[in-house]
Amino acid sequence: MDHLTDPFLISADRFDGPVLVTGAGGCIGAWVCAILSRSGVPVIASDLQPSPARAGLVLGQQAAKALDWVSLDVTDGASVSALVSEHKIRAIIHLAGLQVPFCAANPALGARVNVEGTINILEAARMADIKRTVFASSVAAHSFPAGGPYKATLYGAYKVANEQTAHVYWEDWKVPSIGLRPNVVYGVARDQGMSSKNTIAIQAAAMGVPFEVPYTGLYSWLYAGEAAAAFIASASQDGAGASMFDLNGRCETIEAGMEILGQLAPEMQIAANGSPFPFPPDLDENPLRNHVPDYPAFSLELGVTDTFHAFKTLVANGQVTNLPA
Ligand SMILES: NC(=O)c1ccc[n+]([C@@H]2O[C@H](COP(=O)([O-])OP(=O)(O)OC[C@H]3O[C@@H](n4cnc5c(N)ncnc54)[C@H](O)[C@@H]3O)[C@@H](O)[C@H]2O)c1
Repeated sequence: MDHLTDPFLISADRFDGPVLVTGAGGCIGAWVCAILSRSGVPVIASDLQPSPARAGLVLGQQAAKALDWVSLDVTDGASVSALVSEHKIRAIIHLAGLQVPFCAANPALGARVNVEGTINILEAARMADIKRTVFASSVAAHSFPAGGPYKATLYGAYKVANEQTAHVYWEDWKVPSIGLRPNVVYGVARDQGMSSKNTIAIQAAAMGVPFEVPYTGLYSWLYAGEAAAAFIASASQDGAGASMFDLNGRCETIEAGMEILGQLAPEMQIAANGSPFPFPPDLDENPLRNHVPDYPAFSLELGVTDTFHAFKTLVANGQVTNLPA
């Protein structure tokens, strides 16, 4: 599966020590760890449940198992700081979090993981004098103040808290950070959250089973490799300030993605129905691209095609057997 990460590899000398990735067992974490490790950058892959399953879809099972996996609960501040010190961490890419449905199902846990967890990361960065901390906010932060055109969620409220916290850590203690607001990430290993349905449609087409995407209209298609590359680029230089950037990908309709899929799998039974996705599809990512070293921009055609072929391979070799619930 090396072809998935080949376009995103970087020069290892852009990092001067190990990178801690939190939420490494998740979708973006899988891609970040795969790109860093294939680039020769030392990476500590941490997660509450440090499973190489998603990284294995991107990197191959053997290489994913061989990563330095560490069990870390980001709600445990002492453990976060101890890990940073023990591994002489030089940069942090903080991706651990609970997505929209999980925050709605358990708001207090959502706040502990998403809000307190991010505070623990910033605090560890403060104690270890780390100059490169990048954390995941979300497009969902754009729904605030509430009452505007986009859906307000607890998840989004917690992400706003992360952004404001990062500002205070810079103002009060000069802890630099970059917060990225990814829009809808798609690609291999994207299997949960309210915005995972376009990826599941590609997987369904590769498996030859029917699927309906519950959205239509303009959408942000942010390829997982590109999202991971943006996090890595943001962590590849010392920061100054608490910066927030949108990370959008390509603004195209759901139907445009399904049309590309239809050319790849003419027999597919994939439909798109319903209203537009309740978040803005067309955020400007030029401020980010002007701020960090260059990273690739993946076209919708390339992203859908690579994802479809990767799922075909993963299904054929038995690594992917069912559609996500
Ligand atoms: N995927 C997207 O489209 C998208 C869009 C905007 C923002 N984001 C944000 O980017 C980040 C990564 O997204 P993703 O799609 O990879 O998410 P994901 O749900 O695939 O992975 C999140 C990971 O966090 C881990 N985690 C949960 N609680 C934890 C804890 N207490 N301690 C340590 N790890 C814990 C989970 O085990 C999981 O492996 C998240 O913060 C998410 O909110 C994602």
